[in-house]
Amino acid sequence: MAAEAAPFKVSSLNGKVALVTGASSGIGASTSILFAKLGAKLALNGRDMENLTKTAKQCKVAGQSEPLLVPGDLMDEDTAKKTIEKTVDHYGRLDVLINSAGILVMGSIETTDMEQYDRVMNTNVRSVYHLTHLAVPHLVNSKGCIVNVSSVNGQRSFPGVLAYCMSKSAIDQFTRCTALELASKQFLEKCKETHALGRPGEVDEVA
Ligand SMILES: NC(=O)c1ccc[n+]([C@@H]2O[C@H](COP(=O)([O-])OP(=O)(O)OC[C@H]3O[C@@H](n4cnc5c(N)ncnc54)[C@H](OP(=O)(O)O)[C@@H]3O)[C@@H](O)[C@H]2O)c1
Repeated sequence: MAAEAAPFKVSSLNGKVALVTGASSGIGASTSILFAKLGAKLALNGRDMENLTKTAKQCKVAGQSEPLLVPGDLMDEDTAKKTIEKTVDHYGRLDVLINSAGILVMGSIETTDMEQYDRVMNTNVRSVYHLTHLAVPHLVNSKGCIVNVSSVNGQRSFPGVLAYCMSKSAIDQFTRCTALELASKQFLEKCKETHALGRPGEVDEVA
């Protein structure tokens, strides 16, 4: 019988700077509190100030430091720019970007109008693309990472949530392509320190 794989557990994020979107509710809020427990320094984005402040208070109790609040609507390009700028100005670096902000709008091909379609795609895809684009230079510097919160709706077909399903498929492909584009900046650079030759071996060398 195959041995059961041990669950992957992060034991510490001590000193890591993480920007969490959707931090005012649900998965983003819970992730923020866990990150605080693990020692991360946090920048929290959401639109609802009351809920965002509530998450920040819970993070402060769970961790050691007060999170930076960077509230605002990420569909607004200037807000996205300021969100990254304020985070990096405050902490001097960025190690983790958690893209959790997202919306679900009910509707099929017969009932979803263009306003609803645009709202879902702009929130779930365009703003994620933009914020990530702005964060990447800082994440390359820190050899950091990006977590995109997608959904099973991106891979499986569900009726009545068409635009949402499409937006999450786009996020899955965005994640794969971005990972491929950025992987060499992380892995090959890291190899300079971790591999005796300062690079991965060639097959001829292994032979
Ligand atoms: N819950 C599920 O069952 C489930 C399953 C699969 C995937 N997901 C995905 O997981 C992520 C989080 O879901 P959740 O259930 O935690 O959602 P949620 O509780 O409804 O929270 C959504 C968050 O996104 C923020 N947000 C929405 N539009 C925004 C905008 N234009 N600018 C800035 N922030 C915005 C909201 O901020 P305010 O409330 O402050 O406006 C809120 O913090 C989403 O991407 C969702 O698609 C959820």
